[in-house]
Amino acid sequence: MERKQSAKTKAGLGAGIKNGFKKIGNVFQNTIKSDAKIFSYLKTFADDKGVAAVMPSSRYLVSRTLRAMNIKHATKIIEYGAAEGVMTRKILEEMPKDGKILSVELNECFYQKLKTLESDHRMSLYHGDVRQIDSIAKAHGFPAGEIDVIVSGIPFAFLSAEGRAELLSKTSDLLKPGGRFVAYQVTTHLIPILKNHFREVKIQFEIRNIPPHFVFTAFK
Ligand SMILES: C[S@@+](CC[C@H](N)C(=O)[O-])C[C@H]1O[C@@H](n2cnc3c(N)ncnc32)[C@H](O)[C@@H]1O
Repeated sequence: MERKQSAKTKAGLGAGIKNGFKKIGNVFQNTIKSDAKIFSYLKTFADDKGVAAVMPSSRYLVSRTLRAMNIKHATKIIEYGAAEGVMTRKILEEMPKDGKILSVELNECFYQKLKTLESDHRMSLYHGDVRQIDSIAKAHGFPAGEIDVIVSGIPFAFLSAEGRAELLSKTSDLLKPGGRFVAYQVTTHLIPILKNHFREVKIQFEIRNIPPHFVFTAFK
């Protein structure tokens, strides 16, 4: 009886693992199909460790992140680390017509590619480091205390402990009361730090991305 049950458990586990691999395979296929520029992204990753991801966010991670942003109601948005603009393009598609977005990107190659998005009058682009987001936002007409959502794909793990705390403090200052900071990250190390700066933190996980990511929504 016990042996029978353990065989059943093993079979269930085997099917679960097989299903998991199948899902990851689908994500890989979709990413390749939907983005022929994947190898140029990989090259940028190889040249700059700050890029931190081997390929752009999958459509599953993008849509989970946009839901966390409550995108239809976000009229003032700041994006940290836009890379090639996979997330940015979808944000522009879904955000209100009278909204505004400021995207900040450090990598020169990605910044040059993002310039095409500036044809949308709602989009402002800045080539630089988000650690100076307080002055960058002010210079672009995004005043402290008025931002609905800040979304981030930058690798927080690469910042020093002081750098992380300072950036999260600037992030919180920029948000309006009730505003949200949405960060998609590979690890959970940011959770306790977010809890020091925000009143509530929601945690989600998206497996259909390479690599799988957590999506944290922190409320001011
Ligand atoms: C994981 S990628 C972002 C993925 C992208 N948003 C997407 O959805 O495909 C991280 C990006 O953050 C940028 N980045 C890293 N550190 C940064 C910083 N301090 N300031 C601005 N951008 C930064 C990198 O150049 C890279 O493009």
